[in-house]
Parts: sequence; structure tokens; C-alpha cells
Amino acid sequence: MTDAPLNGHALLDFNAPLSDAKAHDLVAGLRLRSGDAVVDYGCGWAELLLRAVEHVPGARGLGVDSDERAITRGRANVEARGLASRVTLDLADVTTWSATPADVAISIGASHAWGGTAAALDALHARVRPGGTLVLGDGFWERPPSPRSREVFGDEVVGGLADLVDLALARGYRLLALATATRDEWDTFESRWCAAREHWLLEHPDHPEAAEVRALVDDHRDAWLRGYRGELGFAYLTLARP
Ligand SMILES: C[S@@+](CC[C@H](N)C(=O)[O-])C[C@H]1O[C@@H](n2cnc3c(N)ncnc32)[C@H](O)[C@@H]1O
Repeated sequence: MTDAPLNGHALLDFNAPLSDAKAHDLVAGLRLRSGDAVVDYGCGWAELLLRAVEHVPGARGLGVDSDERAITRGRANVEARGLASRVTLDLADVTTWSATPADVAISIGASHAWGGTAAALDALHARVRPGGTLVLGDGFWERPPSPRSREVFGDEVVGGLADLVDLALARGYRLLALATATRDEWDTFESRWCAAREHWLLEHPDHPEAAEVRALVDDHRDAWLRGYRGELGFAYLTLARP
């Protein structure tokens, strides 16, 4: 963009279909203790990581993401919320970045970084200490996908919810808790994604990239409403790493 950059994530609290209430439940379920290290792989602007660390004074947070704008937003939030002494966010590739195995690792919507869910589960296994916990956020099919959904997601999605859980078990984890995104959480997520672009278009109708942005949001809305809405699910698995 030239003079007026579009921030397509501006209206999102999380870059995932996740409400405040579910985020709170996820964090509370971790039973974090003071001194625990929480590491978020593909943290985006690290909102869930910050909430985890805020939940338990004394917990420490490390987040990594390869998106510079997301890390900049996250670092500003770290400062604004007085967490600089406990949280560090690194701009790096999760596949090559390393940290001491975490008490709790988080990876929400970032399995593709490793090439898919199975590879992500394997990579994260080594990044969680024995006895620690992984929160994995990943997609699954709630219903058999339509051709449009297949077109958008290809073979990225492992199968149904039970298939996703079975995959985690086969990769050496045990299931501690399971939550799935509700239809409302999905609709909020997708609406806000589109709305950031719609607001920008209203403010910049003659921008040289307006037609491209309008086509992108039209295509996204169409794929959502005529494709994966009600078909693609999103699960938050809290997994023990024995
Ligand atoms: C769907 S977003 C989820 C972000 C965050 N976990 C959340 O829930 O808000 C996926 C994130 O993975 C990051 N990502 C993808 N591939 C990556 C890689 N190889 N290294 C680091 N981050 C990566 C993207 O930049 C993006 O921020």
C-alpha cells in the first residue's frame, strides 16, 4: 500500500475464532504456576500469551512469529500492559528458533508453519518439557467439506475432530481438555476480518489498490459463506506431554 496501509487484523483480538470467555477458560485450565515458562509458537501479536502471563503473576512468556507487524503490535501491548520484565517477543521462524523446552507451549493456527498438523505435533513435542502441556489450535471438518472448502483448504485439514485428537494421541500426547469454536466465534472472526477491509475501502475509495482489496474481501466472504461456514471447525486441544 502506498500512503494508507491497510491493517487487515486491526479489528481482531486474536487471529483465530476465539472469544474472551473461551480464552479465559483455556488459560485457567492450564493451572500455571509462578515461574512457569509459556512459549507461544506462531504467536501473532501474542494476545493469548499475554493473557496467560497476566493470569499468573510470576509466569514468564516467550513468543515467536515471523510477521513483523504482528510482533510490533504485540511488543507495544507488552509495554502498555506492564509486562516487559516477563514477556519477550521474537521476530523469527518457528521452525528454526529454539528455546528451552517450555512448561506450557501454545500454538494456535500455526501448524502450517511446520508443513501440517502431524509435523507441528512432532516439532512441538520436543519443545515442551516432559510433564508439560501443549495448547494446540487447529482446524477439523465439522461436516464433509464442499468442493469450495476443498478448493480453499486442500488437504490441510486432517479430518474430523476425533481424527485430530487421535493424531495427537498417536504423536505421544494425552488429551486434557477440548474446546471448539462456536458459530458465533467464527462469525465474529470472519466479520471482523472483512470489516477491517470494508472500513479501509470506505475511507480510501480511490486508492490504487482499492479494486484489489475489494476483490480479496469479496472472494474471502464468498468462500466463507458459500464454502466453509459450518464445515470448518476449529479446536483448542490442551494436551499433556508425558
Ligand atoms: C492464524 S495466525 C494465529 C496467530 C496467533 N497464534 C493467534 O491465535 O492470534 C498464524 C500465525 O503463524 C505465523 N507463522 C506462520 N508461519 C510461521 C513461521 N514459519 N514462523 C513463525 N511464525 C509463523 C503467522 O505469521 C501468523 O501470525
